[in-house]
Amino acid sequence: MFFNDAEAAGFAEVEVLTRTLERRVQERTVQLSDANRELAAKRVELEEQNREVRCATEHKSAFLASMSHEFRTPLNAILGFTRLTLKKAGEVLPPVQRDNLKKVEKSAVDLLGIISDVLDLSKVEAGKLTVRPEAFALTDLVDEVLASAAPLVGDRPLKLEKRILTSTEQMVSDRVRVKQILVNLVSNAIQFTPSGAATVEVDHDPARDWFRIAVIDTGLGISERDAASIFEPFDQVQSAVAQGSAGTGLGLAIVRRLCHLLGGTVTLRSELGRGSRFTVEVPRVLSAAVAPAPWLDPAAGEAGAAPVEGRAAAADGGV
Ligand SMILES: Nc1ncnc2c1ncn2[C@@H]1O[C@H](COP(=O)(O)OP(=O)(O)O)[C@@H](O)[C@H]1O
Ligand SMILES: [Mg+2]
Repeated sequence: MFFNDAEAAGFAEVEVLTRTLERRVQERTVQLSDANRELAAKRVELEEQNREVRCATEHKSAFLASMSHEFRTPLNAILGFTRLTLKKAGEVLPPVQRDNLKKVEKSAVDLLGIISDVLDLSKVEAGKLTVRPEAFALTDLVDEVLASAAPLVGDRPLKLEKRILTSTEQMVSDRVRVKQILVNLVSNAIQFTPSGAATVEVDHDPARDWFRIAVIDTGLGISERDAASIFEPFDQVQSAVAQGSAGTGLGLAIVRRLCHLLGGTVTLRSELGRGSRFTVEVPRVLSAAVAPAPWLDPAAGEAGAAPVEGRAAAADGGV
């Protein structure tokens, strides 16, 4: 077969182009496999770093757990002997000395509270806090919580209320942990509400067989910006700190982790200056196989974090 000059030149050009293309493909293939190798190396490095971070977190939690435990023993001695002295010699002590001893007692009680918060948080983070389900009446538990929180109100014009919207009251869950969640939320509601009401509202969703427990207050409220970080350990809203609130910022972090431990969530709706509504949603019956806590399951990432709703979400219901 014969080709004229123009055709021959055309074929030559196609061949040159094909060769150039082949060379480019080869170059790109080499570049790609280099990039792949680099990626694989980075993945190994990241996995190693992840392992180190998990290991460090476990060590931190173990350290905090044992330190907190060690702190508690002498602190209980301080508390015990202070109370004993107040009881045996309170009458004969000059009033100033008696008041001083009462301050020692109060500080020891506060410190004990902080230490048990740190201990609880590190235990949940280390996956060492186990749940012990038992049957109990949720409404009785709410009464108990409100009664124990009543002294925190002092002489403020603040009503403590209970609103039960369901006839279902039996719960099978970890009573101690449900109580701890409610004590934290109710004491916050009282602490950050100068006047009005702090209400515990209990409802039951028959479709899922879950309880919805809301702690509602008419207090300072929380801005959308603060709401985003309020469930993080040691996070406190600056204005609240400035007003001299005596907490550590661990309460809500513990609440969120305990809600996860009970298979549920906690969410917040709030409006600055008008009040807040913390809603705990938990299964009525705690199943034996509760999903692993999201912060212990590397695959879950942030998706497992409790949702926090800002003001926009509160538009329908207010607080
Ligand atoms: N009901 C509430 N109303 C207004 N602010 C609140 C309320 N509950 C919590 N907060 C804010 O969230 C912060 C963190 O709460 P928490 O974790 O319980 O720590 P603490 O009570 O030890 O300060 C509080 O310092 C306060 O600023
Ligand atoms: Mg608190």
